[in-house]
Amino acid sequence: MRKNYAVIAAGGLGTRLKDYKHNESTKVLIDIGGLSMISSQVMQLKSWGFRDFIVITNPDFNDLIKNDLQKNFTDENISYVIQPSPKGIADALSYVEAEIDNNSLLTFILGDNFFGENPLEKINLDNFSGAHLFVKEVENPEEFGVMEIDKDGNAIDIYEKPKEYISNLAVVGIYIYDTSCFENIRKLTPSNRGELEITDLNKIYLDQKKVLSKVLSSWWIDAGTPERIEELKKLI
Ligand code: G1P
Repeated sequence: MRKNYAVIAAGGLGTRLKDYKHNESTKVLIDIGGLSMISSQVMQLKSWGFRDFIVITNPDFNDLIKNDLQKNFTDENISYVIQPSPKGIADALSYVEAEIDNNSLLTFILGDNFFGENPLEKINLDNFSGAHLFVKEVENPEEFGVMEIDKDGNAIDIYEKPKEYISNLAVVGIYIYDTSCFENIRKLTPSNRGELEITDLNKIYLDQKKVLSKVLSSWWIDAGTPERIEELKKLI
């Protein structure tokens, strides 16, 4: 079977959570009902069947994140990669290239994204190439990457936090890529905020006509704000 790595972006500093319950650490170490967010994330991915994990951390919190996971997971294959500076989600992904076997897949998940269902269920990835995205209908699309679709539901374009209404379909923080993602990341240039954006990477796959997408029906939480963390605690 084709190897599918769970790659977790855990380096974000979580500026919207600064001072949340006197949090002085990093977002993924916030407690979610007895376990840190990063351990809860590995639990979620394990329950979906993932066995190989790569965690992308930052220089300041790598040791704390590693200690937390080593305490909770002793048998899993977890490796760690450090993103030297916060230059965006696509930049973070670029650092895992050396860890990945040829012809494998990467399921890239943002550490603060949690789901009421396994998004990969019923998706056959044996011959998959390109990018598989997932969207969810939301009331606040301006806070996310947003997908524009045609009448048949095919992706046409993606906009990062658009000020004007495009659609109510937020692109959620889990993406399946083949290994061409690394070559595509090398084509990216920094956005206005100086980051390599995951939306720009997905737009390259759109230009190549290699994007599949699926609408999720169960709940999804991007636990990036204090309110959403409280909501998540009730759900998991
Ligand atoms: C990121 C992505 C955005 C996506 C969101 C999902 O935004 O840039 O496209 O919709 O994650 O959680 P962030 O939460 O980092 O602002």
